This record gives sequence, C-alpha cells and structure tokens, in this order.
Amino acid sequence: MIERRPRRLRRTEALRRLVAETQLSVNDLVAPLFVREGVTEPQPVHSLPGVFQHTRSSLIEEVKKLRDRGIPGIVLFGIPEKKDSTGSEAWNPEGIVQQALGDLRNEFDDEMVLIADLCVDEYTDHGHCGIVKSNGVVDNDATLELYQNIAIAQAEAGAHVTAPSGMMDGQVKAIRTALDSKGYEDISILAYAAKYASALYGPFRDAVDVEIADGGDRKGYQQDPPNAREAVTEVLLDISEGADMVMVKPALSYLDVISQIRSEVNVPLAAYHVSGEYAMVEAAAANGWIDGESVGMEHLLSIKRAGADFILTYLACRAAENLQK
Ligand code: PBG
Repeated sequence: MIERRPRRLRRTEALRRLVAETQLSVNDLVAPLFVREGVTEPQPVHSLPGVFQHTRSSLIEEVKKLRDRGIPGIVLFGIPEKKDSTGSEAWNPEGIVQQALGDLRNEFDDEMVLIADLCVDEYTDHGHCGIVKSNGVVDNDATLELYQNIAIAQAEAGAHVTAPSGMMDGQVKAIRTALDSKGYEDISILAYAAKYASALYGPFRDAVDVEIADGGDRKGYQQDPPNAREAVTEVLLDISEGADMVMVKPALSYLDVISQIRSEVNVPLAAYHVSGEYAMVEAAAANGWIDGESVGMEHLLSIKRAGADFILTYLACRAAENLQK
C-alpha cells in the first residue's frame, strides 16, 4: 500500500503556489468610497480607521491611488447636507453623488468601473431605505418610484453600474425599466440580492451619518440571518428581473450562502466584506491581538474560495499593495 503524504506538496513556497486552488487578484477588488457634501477636508470615520468621508477633490485623489494600484472599480456612497422624508437629494442632478460621479467620469472615463450604490437611507431624515408609511412600515411600491429616479440620475451623471441596496421587492425590474426607457440600456445592475439584516453594518452607519429613527431596524425588508434557501430565491428573482450581477452581503458570516449561490447561477457574483468585518480586524490588530494584514488577506481569500468573483472591501487598497509584494 503506497502511503499518501499530503505534506509533500506543502514543503516549499513555490510548491504551495503551484498547487494553490484559489487566487486572489487585484482584479477582484472594489473599494467602497464616501463623498460628503459641504466639507473642505476629508473627515475620518472613527469606527473605520483609514476610511474617510471625502471631499469632491480628495475623492479624485483617492481614486487615482486605487487606479495606480490596479484596482478596477469603486462603489460610491454620498452624504448630503440636508436630509428629508423621501431622500430627494439622492436623485438631485446637482446632489453630491451625482456631482462626484461626474468628476470621476471626467477624470477617469472608462478606466475605472464606477458603481453607484442606489438607496435612500443616506438621504432620508428617518434613516430608512424607503418611504415610511404612517404605520411605520416602509412602502415597497412607492419606494420603487424613487429608486427609478435615482437610477436615471446616476446614469446621467456617469455611473457604469447602479447597485440597488434597499431590498425592496421588484426593485431590479423597476430600475431596468426606467433605465431602458431613457436610453440607458448599457448601464448595468449589480443587485444587492441577498442582503441580510446584519448587525455588522454599524460602522457604515457612522460613515454615512445614519441613525434609524425610533431605534428602528431593517428586519422588515432585509433578509433574516437564519435563511439560506431564501437567498437563492432572492437571487433568482433578481436575475429574472434583469440583474447583470448579484451580491451576497455581509460576506464572512454568509460564506455558505455565497457557496450555494455560486453553484446555482452563472452571472458574476459579488460579496461585500462589510464595515463591521473590517472594523473587527482593525480593532483586534490595533490591540496587538492579531496580525491585521494577514487576517485581512485570509478573509478576502476565504470569500473568493467560497465562490465570489469579486469583493467590495475597505481593505481594497492595502490588499492590492500586499498582492504586489
Ligand atoms: C444601504 C447600505 C448599507 C450598507 C451598504 N448599503 C447599510 C444598511 O443596509 O444599513 C452597509 C455596508 C457596510 O456595512 O459596509 N444603503
């Protein structure tokens, strides 16, 4: 009987590289970026060390840095000066995200994929992802009309991709229809298809100055963490409505979902390594408890191994640097 000795293939760095099943590449990385109206200096986000609310000009500098490291795309979030009940700044052609998209398209044109997050929670005074009815419930169908306005404004401003993150039923179809009716057949949709009502978005809400009114939450529209099969239903629905790419979010606590979706669909699959996942790494590293760089790379590799084609991550810039070493 010949003895199997798997350690033979682990002996040297070159052997390990040769037999590696998963490759993480700079092409897999998308950097989430924030642009804030009415500031003259970039503002640090204290629960996301190294992440800033950018001014229009510091945003351009940041994207240059990412471009120079070979990163193919960014996803943009805006923080308006004034919020209201419908989040109308989200589709104002002069609103902060539209202006910033215009700046980036001018500067980089097609060199970077410009993904615009499509939601109203950063723009509403109550912090919900849609219109809130008098009984406190978010009105699905009334909200779809707002999303259609936003998609058109983002396309007009220069986005290549719009990424609806509000988890309203029928949002992809509504947005596709609106874009096509205005001649934006080329703008693609990255659907936040399986987005869970997660406690891991906390630091993000600091980054966009969002507090959900009356101690509320998003459990009435985002997915319930116990459900994985439901994620498949959500993803298939979004694809049937016209999603060009789909996303699972968060990433690490939902690797089983990523893996399951990967085996069900053929469209590109994204995963969002969210703010809380990044913050945990940074906090433990700052305490000297873990090697943050290595743990960060291990996180991204694991998400790739589970089946994601690309990853939205606050680690994008540093990961690109680590990959070049
Ligand atoms: C909603 C949106 C959220 C995130 C991305 N888009 C927050 C939420 O659903 O409450 C979270 C991203 C992160 O935590 O990094 N517009």
